[in-house]
Amino acid sequence: MHKFSARRLTPVLAAGICLLNLLPTGAYAPPEHPYRPVEGTVQTIRPSVCPIENGTPVSQTRPAVVQDTPPGESPAAPAPQAPIPGAPPGSPTAPSPVTPLAPAKPALPSSDETVPPDQTAEPEAGAAMQAEPPKTEQLQPAAPEETAAQPDHSALLALVEKGELTEADLEYLTLPNGRLDRLDRYSAWSASHPEASPEDVVLQVNLDQDRNFYQSPTPAAVPDSLSVLVNKHYTLSAQYIPKLEVLGSAYGSGSLRPEAAAAFRAMADAARTDGISLRSVSAYRSFQRQTTIYNRYLSQDQQSSVDTYSARPGSSEHQTGLALDINTASIGAHFEKTPAYAWLTEHCAQYGFILRYPKGKESLTGYRFEPWHYRYVGKEIAAACTEQGLTLEEYLALHPAEQPKSQTQTKPVESQAQTVVSNA
Ligand code: DAL
Ligand code: ZN
Repeated sequence: MHKFSARRLTPVLAAGICLLNLLPTGAYAPPEHPYRPVEGTVQTIRPSVCPIENGTPVSQTRPAVVQDTPPGESPAAPAPQAPIPGAPPGSPTAPSPVTPLAPAKPALPSSDETVPPDQTAEPEAGAAMQAEPPKTEQLQPAAPEETAAQPDHSALLALVEKGELTEADLEYLTLPNGRLDRLDRYSAWSASHPEASPEDVVLQVNLDQDRNFYQSPTPAAVPDSLSVLVNKHYTLSAQYIPKLEVLGSAYGSGSLRPEAAAAFRAMADAARTDGISLRSVSAYRSFQRQTTIYNRYLSQDQQSSVDTYSARPGSSEHQTGLALDINTASIGAHFEKTPAYAWLTEHCAQYGFILRYPKGKESLTGYRFEPWHYRYVGKEIAAACTEQGLTLEEYLALHPAEQPKSQTQTKPVESQAQTVVSNA
C-alpha cells in the first residue's frame, strides 16, 4: 500500500494530472506511448489526457467490486482444459466452473430464438489467454465532493518530496493514460515485471492483464455510453436494459439501441447497393436470454470451452444493445470467407462499427475470432480502432478520456418491454 491516503489525494491528483496535460509541450511533454500489439510490430501512439474510469472520471466514486462469479454461479469445479487467463503458475487452468444457471424467462421477446446462437457447431479449442499474476487490491474511491481542488505540478512534486507519492507514481500519473485509481495495480505490476517501462506498466494494467477473467468483475460505470466496455472484467447488471428500437424485417431480427439501429440500417442499405446482404441474426439480448444461451452451452460443453465463445450473463455485449451478429453466428459457416465479411472489413467503420473479436486478440477480448460479431462504437472510435488495428480494450486502455459521456437514459423495464413489443 502507499503511504498516503488515496482517498484524500484522489481529487488533488486527478486535478493535477489534468493540469499537467494542459501544460505547453515544452513545459511537460508526455512521452510517446510505445504500444505493442499482441501480434505485429511496435506502434507509437499518444494516448489522450485525463484518467477516466470506464466512462466516468476516476475522481467519482468507484463502483464496488462485485462477486467473483456472476450471480447464480457456484464455485464447483470440473477440470478445465484451457489455460486460465492471467493464472499464475500452479493455478487451476480455467475459471471456476459453475452450476448451470436456472433458465429464466426473457424479460423481452428474444431477438434470436429462431436463429443460431453465437456458437452452434464445431467449437474450436479456446485460444491461449494471458498468463499474469492476479491483483485484487482496490483503491478507495474519492468522495464526489472532493473533486474541486486544482493543484499544479509543483503540488504533485511536493507530495513526492513529502514521501506521500513516489516518483514512480508521478511517472505513471503524468502519462496521458495513467489512472489515479490504479496506482497500486501499477506498482504491483511493476514489482512483478521489473523490466517493464512505465508506459508498458500503465498499458498492461489498463488492459486488465493483471486480472483473471471473471476474477473480480466491475460494474460498467456508464452502461449507456456508446463506448461502454462490457467484457469478462466489466459487467452489466441483470436489470440493465438499454433503450431499444426494432431493426425491422428488412434488416433481420432483433433490436438495437437507436443509434446503433440507424447505423446498421444505413450500413445494410449501402451494402445492398453493392450487392451484399447484411441481416441481423442476433442483436440485443437480455441478461435472462444470455443466461439461457450460456446454460445451454454448459449442458453441451465444458465451461473452459464455452467461455471462449459465449459470454456469461452480465458480460455479453449483446446486453448493451450495441452489438449484433450479422448473417450467421456459427463458426461452421466460415463467414470470414464470404463477400459480406470482406465488405464489412472495408466499410463497417464508416458506419461506426468494429469487428469486436478479431483473430490474434483472444488474450485481450477473452473470445476466439467471431467474424460475425460487430459492435457499434461511433464513427470516430471505429475509425481509430480500424486504422490502428486496436480492439476496444486496447483503444480504451490508451485513450481512457475519450469515452463519450452517457448519452441516453435507461428506461424503466416495463416501458422498455412495451416499446419492443409494440414495434415487433
Ligand atoms: N459470443 C459473444 C462473446 C457473446 O456471447 O456475447
Ligand atoms: Zn455476438
